[in-house]
Amino acid sequence: MKKTIALLLLAALLLTGCAGKGTPTGEKLIRVGFSQVGAESDWRMANTASMIGALCEENGFELLFDNAKQRQENQLLAIRNFIQQDVDYIVLAPIAESGWEDVLHEAAAAGIPVILVDRQIAAAYKDLYVTWVGSDFQAEGEQILRWLEEKLEQEGRASEPLRILHIQGTDGATAQIGRTAALNNAVARHPNWSVAAVLPGEYTEAKSYELVRDYLKEDRDIQLIYSENDNMSFGAMRALDEAGISYGPGGDVMILSFDAVREALRLCLDGKLDACAECNPLHGPRVAALIRQMEEGRTPGKLNYVLESVFTQSDLSPAFLEAREY
Ligand code: AHR
Repeated sequence: MKKTIALLLLAALLLTGCAGKGTPTGEKLIRVGFSQVGAESDWRMANTASMIGALCEENGFELLFDNAKQRQENQLLAIRNFIQQDVDYIVLAPIAESGWEDVLHEAAAAGIPVILVDRQIAAAYKDLYVTWVGSDFQAEGEQILRWLEEKLEQEGRASEPLRILHIQGTDGATAQIGRTAALNNAVARHPNWSVAAVLPGEYTEAKSYELVRDYLKEDRDIQLIYSENDNMSFGAMRALDEAGISYGPGGDVMILSFDAVREALRLCLDGKLDACAECNPLHGPRVAALIRQMEEGRTPGKLNYVLESVFTQSDLSPAFLEAREY
């Protein structure tokens, strides 16, 4: 249902066009090829809408959009296709950090500047793109885990055993690497914390639901679910409901979630999620601004981090949710 609403919003955006002020008519459009990871999550749908909304004709862009359906080989094909079409810029939301060297050398040989958005690529390829904008995924994890540490301390539960079910995003994605590193560091700091299992949820609700449902048949002694995105949290909640295990503040299991999309914040306000680490998907205007800088002959900063926070029930209200953009 949520996905249907997001798709309808995206379709409406495609029909109604641009977000932004627009440019004088007659100006040559800047041709941008954008290789998107997929449509795996509410976050991704909001990100796609933001990109399409900003890189539109009224704003001076012609956008060639490709949805790679969560497969790197599709992204490689899309980039080669953009090179053949001789676009002015390639924007890449890389599914994983490795595997880009050849294709980005091809883009460089064709003289097409590459901009990364959302996740990053391996540091060894840093000369193969101009600039990146996205989140500090490890900082997101550190922030939400600091909140957990303080909460357990305040409740006098800091030394109780904490068995963690870790639902991981796509293997090798910057978001997975950063959020996982934050958890592993926190577990190393706390002798009473342990990871009961790591489940490869691939950022999707369906996969997470299946994995958690099956896992709970073998082991119900879990105090925390650390879920690397909201959609995987939704899947886990469905599995917990079926298993008759309560969750959220005061429940059997605490849930920490990432993205903070509106539906997750609503669940947090309703006392179903303990905390949501924000991951801001509204990169379209940021990418458009980076391209404009480059058009003016300026070189943008290499790494552009977006500021984000953690939300818990006490931070939220119906009015806040109403005003939320995603
Ligand atoms: O890279 C950002 C992550 O990718 C978001 O947390 C997740 O929802 C998405 O699919």
